[in-house]
Amino acid sequence: NSGKPTPAMRHVYRGTFMHSTQQAPLQILEDALLGVDKDGKIAFIGKGGELNKLSQDFGFSPSEVTQLTKDEFFMPGMVDTHIHAPQYSYAGTALDLPLLQWLDTYTFPVESRFRDLEFAKKVYTQVVKRTLRNGTTTACYFATIHTDASLLLGKIANDFGQRALVGKVCMDMNNSVQHYKETTQDSQDETRRFITELLKKKYPLVKPVVTPRFVLSCTGPLLGELGAIARDNNLHIQSHISENAQEVKIAKEMFPESETYTDIYHKFNLLTDKTVMAHGCYLSDDELNLFKETGASLSHCPNSNISLCSGVLNVRNVLKHKVKLGLGTDVAGGYSASMLDAVRRARDTSKFITIQTPEHETLTFEEVFRLATLGGSQALSLDEQTGNFEVGKDFDALRVNVAAPEGPIDISQEEGPKIQLERFLNLGDDRNIVEVYVAGRKVIPFTEPTAE
Ligand code: GUN
Ligand code: FE
Repeated sequence: NSGKPTPAMRHVYRGTFMHSTQQAPLQILEDALLGVDKDGKIAFIGKGGELNKLSQDFGFSPSEVTQLTKDEFFMPGMVDTHIHAPQYSYAGTALDLPLLQWLDTYTFPVESRFRDLEFAKKVYTQVVKRTLRNGTTTACYFATIHTDASLLLGKIANDFGQRALVGKVCMDMNNSVQHYKETTQDSQDETRRFITELLKKKYPLVKPVVTPRFVLSCTGPLLGELGAIARDNNLHIQSHISENAQEVKIAKEMFPESETYTDIYHKFNLLTDKTVMAHGCYLSDDELNLFKETGASLSHCPNSNISLCSGVLNVRNVLKHKVKLGLGTDVAGGYSASMLDAVRRARDTSKFITIQTPEHETLTFEEVFRLATLGGSQALSLDEQTGNFEVGKDFDALRVNVAAPEGPIDISQEEGPKIQLERFLNLGDDRNIVEVYVAGRKVIPFTEPTAE
């Protein structure tokens, strides 16, 4: 047509696409055509009937188009806004204690083993592969206090093609496992080294995140330094907040000059529009307003909240306060590394609230779908790059087959796409996720590393 250069397409797909937008928790595009360019970005989305025009405009041949079957659809990759990579080594066990005893008894002894890079490599490879296979295209990871092992996690995410935020954990207080902590100076120096070394690798999809474990593991001077490091380098920040009642009480005793838990982080400049805080079960409306004002977001980790008997987050109330919110698995406080589990527990938690308070407006499956995809990308301030199928964003996507041969769903009749999505979210598993794409690159099924 107009003589403008026609970018070559890496892939073109035709079929059903389902995603969320700011306006609609579920938008269904039936018989759509979507093109992914050589940079892995979505070049166009159009209607199947416009094939001839689109193929001319975007320089591809209709024979290159991959046609989905009636049992298949594409949805955006899921975003795990909070997961502890080292804790994958004991996921599915050790769920008999409340948070603070659980940390002392199980977590700190296990995390202290990640000084051993061989052990770290084994566990980190497993967690990256498992989460990718389950459809987590973006993960926001806590590692451990060990800088080299944390850098290794970044390398492994990059090697497998997962989009990741990776945090070297900071803690200069620990009264139970004495050797699993750092001096205040080491913690800040090693955080700087971690950031510098990770950025030097220029992994396209992996970013460092400043990671004070939580108030109970950090002195004021360390929190202050970490706030400054994040500000000076414009970095993401992640931590935990208001997860468990005993934790909230101790945090306030530690910092009596702060009125609330949220105010403690705020005073140390740790609440920014690139901050994601896990849990938040006991936040007051005033604290939620401070999240809204600062642009900080919450990671809702329902499996963990239930498994450690920590508390109940009222997501409806968080959304009413217009605080950004995504879902997290919080492995291993949450026993499942699958975001499909987080989707189900989020909906169950919302239903429990409705049982107790019938006027509560239960989250719909479409809303929870949005939290697992676009909501997560917003919570991590990555929504310019990912989260849904908008032209210009990276193609982070799951090709789902609801009727996968060995899969858990028996489809006996033709169903519309909305029912297919609902069934997949409630009953599906990795057998239904036949392909996973991150930035246009097919990362599942795993292929041997290529020269790409
Ligand atoms: N608070 C501080 N550390 C942790 C952790 O590792 N897991 C959970 N769930 N909460 C925490
Ligand atoms: Fe956590």
